[in-house]
Amino acid sequence: MMQTTATHIPFHKPFCAPNAEKYISTALQSGKWAGNGPYAQKCRQRLAELFHGASVFLTPSCTAALEMAACVLGIQPGDEVIIPAFTFVSSASGFALFGARPVFVDVDPRTLNLDPKHLEAAITPRTRAIVPVHYAGVACDMEAIMGIAAKHGIEVVEDNAHGLFGSLGGRSLGSFGSLSTLSFHETKNVSCGEGGALILNRPEWVEKAEIAQEKGTNRSRFLMGLTDKYTWVAPGSSYLLSDLNAAILWANLEQMDRVQRHRLELWDRYQSGLQEWCREHGVEQPHLPQGAQHPAHLYFLLLPDLEKRQQLMMYLRSHNVQAAYHYQPLHISPMGLHYGGGDADCPGAVAAAQRLIRLPLYAELSFAEQDRVLDLIRGWSWE
Ligand SMILES: Cc1ncc(COP(=O)(O)O)c(C=O)c1O
Repeated sequence: MMQTTATHIPFHKPFCAPNAEKYISTALQSGKWAGNGPYAQKCRQRLAELFHGASVFLTPSCTAALEMAACVLGIQPGDEVIIPAFTFVSSASGFALFGARPVFVDVDPRTLNLDPKHLEAAITPRTRAIVPVHYAGVACDMEAIMGIAAKHGIEVVEDNAHGLFGSLGGRSLGSFGSLSTLSFHETKNVSCGEGGALILNRPEWVEKAEIAQEKGTNRSRFLMGLTDKYTWVAPGSSYLLSDLNAAILWANLEQMDRVQRHRLELWDRYQSGLQEWCREHGVEQPHLPQGAQHPAHLYFLLLPDLEKRQQLMMYLRSHNVQAAYHYQPLHISPMGLHYGGGDADCPGAVAAAQRLIRLPLYAELSFAEQDRVLDLIRGWSWE
């Protein structure tokens, strides 16, 4: 394939807000580097506003937040947790670490989100939680999922790694379940390198969450002057984000409106710019269910099959544009099989893994660079 000398367009570039260096320096000088420091408090407050007053706990990653959720729910060996088969490992591993068996269900082939029509068949007396993932920040069918969960008395933990600023019917994603999690990994809309958050929508569980976050101790109550010493009182681990990371997170949160505006424009330009090409070639574009507002976290296409997807990726790469596929089906991963995933029938997840391609989308991608990607795709000789 012919190589070009056009400048490289990466799949992703982390956004560094103008104030990031200043705030890191302030944090360094403050001597308060540990968790729940001054920058963490600013971030927690801003996020609480976005989540209708929920309690927010900053964690070292979304993975850690999912583990913390499992800890707060008291997940134990023998419990089962229902997970979509098309997701990142952590949606399952965060619960498996506490002894739960992940039970995989298939995704809706249009949204790639957990399909509620498979839920009831996966529920057993051991089911403790359902973990819907809002893929690309596009809402799952929360009305159906919450209804089934309530009927069976099962908790819902939304893995909202992609969905900060996404909503359904005007309500923020992450505010439906008892618990939800966010990621601030460098690939996310708001980032601090590695980071995450647990959003707690059940005020009566705040103390449990504080204990889980502080290594299983009642240190938070001690810091509030509610006890004269602190000790080990329940299961927990170290689920705190250093204030040096929180300083970067705060700088990026300050810029979130500007960044979101640009990302949404980029997303719309991909959607309109590729509409005709997709129609002509049988390529599917993202589907938005009624009432769902996406946060422009990622833009993907579903090619007709694996071969075409690979060809398009190679072609873009030969022109210095980096595109990416995404998750491998979790139920047939080595660990998925270990947990009995081989019995799950998830053709939607398998097809998504083979057909999906993600295009470059990041805060500093210019329209001119995006036009190059669009022109390349539209000019691709399909044979
Ligand atoms: C759906 C989902 N959940 C969880 C994670 C884990 O996030 P983190 O890297 O912050 O642990 C990811 C990673 O991108 C993800 O896509």
